[in-house]
Amino acid sequence: MRKKVKIFPTNNGFKVGARESILEGAMREKIDHPYSCKTGLCGMCKLRLIDGKVDHLDHSPHSLSELEKEEGLILSCRAFPLTDVEVSIVNQDDFEISVQKEEASVISKSMINHDTWCLQLKMKNKTDWIFKSGQFVRLEFDGGISRSYSMANLPSDELLTFFIRKLPNGSVSDRIMSELKEGDTVRVEGPFGSAYLRAEHTGPIMLVAGGSGIAPIKSIIDSALTLGLKQKLYLYFGVREERDFYLKEYFVELATKHSNFQVKYVADKINSSSDIVVGRVINIIDAEWPILEGQWQAYLAGPPPLVRSLAELLEEKGLWADDIYTDPFYAQN
Ligand code: FES
Repeated sequence: MRKKVKIFPTNNGFKVGARESILEGAMREKIDHPYSCKTGLCGMCKLRLIDGKVDHLDHSPHSLSELEKEEGLILSCRAFPLTDVEVSIVNQDDFEISVQKEEASVISKSMINHDTWCLQLKMKNKTDWIFKSGQFVRLEFDGGISRSYSMANLPSDELLTFFIRKLPNGSVSDRIMSELKEGDTVRVEGPFGSAYLRAEHTGPIMLVAGGSGIAPIKSIIDSALTLGLKQKLYLYFGVREERDFYLKEYFVELATKHSNFQVKYVADKINSSSDIVVGRVINIIDAEWPILEGQWQAYLAGPPPLVRSLAELLEEKGLWADDIYTDPFYAQN
């Protein structure tokens, strides 16, 4: 019986016959998929097995190590599905996503704390529009006004989710958001940005979000856990005041479900909560991690001064600059 293969984050799906490898099925369906030797020697066709079982034939130890196998990686040219399977492309640098401009409809708009909107959009025609977790788009509203925002959802989700901070003094973005209603059209241009999840990484990951920087960081965490990354993921979510937090229950539940995920809330000022650390997020990380040994990676998103200082701090503690992915931005007026 033929087995279904679903590839994230492209959402491509196809069926393979008995004794047909995942790579052979992808090539037959003309699905863009990295490969070279087709015989288990080069390692170009590496995938992460998220769900299902495969019969995996012999291969060179240089193309796939024992550690990578334990982490759930497979070679698509050597993997023959025994059940329906879900896999993800490991090296997302290997597939390019072209920038497109598409129309989307407003599905919902709601306040999620005292000053932040949650906006959800659905592409009108383009059902295969994708992005890499951590990237952003430019949203163009009526009147030609455009602003950049990061997606907070998974690339495979039907709806695009954005967190849009309300600025004081009648800002343009606040006026747009107040007037926007369900069914309105918004033009989406993108995706842009290079601070996206590198799912091939197997060492611990530190994720730091300042304010609405939590949007791309949430997308990265959701993808990492959905793709079955097993290493430790440490999230620090820093804000000014306790009332600036949102998604607290969401991350608490995620930490309950995934023992490799840990979250810490940090605020300059608090009223009552005992689950919030008081202070500046950079000082808390400095105190908790005297040194970062091993193959760490970091994703930092938020106001530019915070992101810059954090990147310098993490380098001092042992991270390579190439392993620090930054998404500095100011909330736009
Ligand atoms: S294509 Fe070379 S290992 Fe699969």
